[in-house]
Amino acid sequence: DWTMAAFKEQAIEAVRKQVGDKKVICGLSGGVDSSVVAVLLHEAIGEQLTCVFVDTGFMRQGEAEEVVTLFRDHYNIKLVHKDASAQFFDALGDEYDPEKKRKTIGGLFIDVFEAEAKAIGGADFLAQGTLYPDVIESVSFVGGPSVTIKSHHNVGGLPERMDMKLVEPLRELFKDEVRELGKELGLPEKFVGRHPFPGPGLAIRIPGQPLSAELCDILRKADAIYLEEIRNAGLYDAIWQAFAVLLPVRTVGVMGDARTYEFVCALRAVTSTDGMTADYYHFDHEFLARVSNRIINEVRGINRVVYDCTSKPPGTIEWE
Ligand code: XMP
Repeated sequence: DWTMAAFKEQAIEAVRKQVGDKKVICGLSGGVDSSVVAVLLHEAIGEQLTCVFVDTGFMRQGEAEEVVTLFRDHYNIKLVHKDASAQFFDALGDEYDPEKKRKTIGGLFIDVFEAEAKAIGGADFLAQGTLYPDVIESVSFVGGPSVTIKSHHNVGGLPERMDMKLVEPLRELFKDEVRELGKELGLPEKFVGRHPFPGPGLAIRIPGQPLSAELCDILRKADAIYLEEIRNAGLYDAIWQAFAVLLPVRTVGVMGDARTYEFVCALRAVTSTDGMTADYYHFDHEFLARVSNRIINEVRGINRVVYDCTSKPPGTIEWE
């Protein structure tokens, strides 16, 4: 697409002009937005860029390895991979309130990121994957909602704390345009087409009970099976977001001739164009039965699977 090719050239030129010979640090989450920023910046300023990937312990299965492999090994981008999961579990303790979890995770994320930035000698600029909808949504508009439904946490708050200038090359783009730009930059289709994933990750998909590595492992396995089946059925690109939620309820089941007493897992899938509104996805029953069977057979700790048929509004996409 010629327009996106032109945008890419302009954006690279603009970054070079803004940054000069200074150093830039970029928080890499594995998501589409920060990945596109990283590759764009790498193309623009090469060695002046360092990426920091903070592993909170709430990532999906295989995610950390994928990020390191793609950016460090394939692109040769300077990448700091910080496994901070122990710190995150520690900081969260027994907390299960959604907003407090977000606050704790967001705050600690900044602490860890800041420490890693210092460790590499600091930088003059911070690169962020801010999109146009983020720019609009952060401005309260007349007639708009006056209550905070969720305090979405990415790396907001970093710039003030760290006294760095911002590089935000995606500020004028919508999500579909970012994906196009990603393709233009040669990012693998599989990466560019990834479903959105919230900053707090699996931590907001285990409602109602204190978080632990064990619960995260159970959820990660169920989630991976679900996504694998969605990909196999050729449905991944038709869905905006799909994920599993581990409910804080145990139910009685039967396995062979033994009684089980394990957790319930809820499956969620929605279509949407911007995440502001969403419809639940209408899977056929054979598909749901297959996923349910696989999860219950393959994941110890789950013995019942339910499907969430709530749209947004009145529901939100995530459960917390
Ligand atoms: P909701 O649940 O509010 O989600 O309907 C709309 C979109 O935002 C994502 N989301 C988050 N993203 N930090 C993020 O970076 C968060 O705290 C957060 N909460 C929700 C959600 O996955 C969906 O794409």
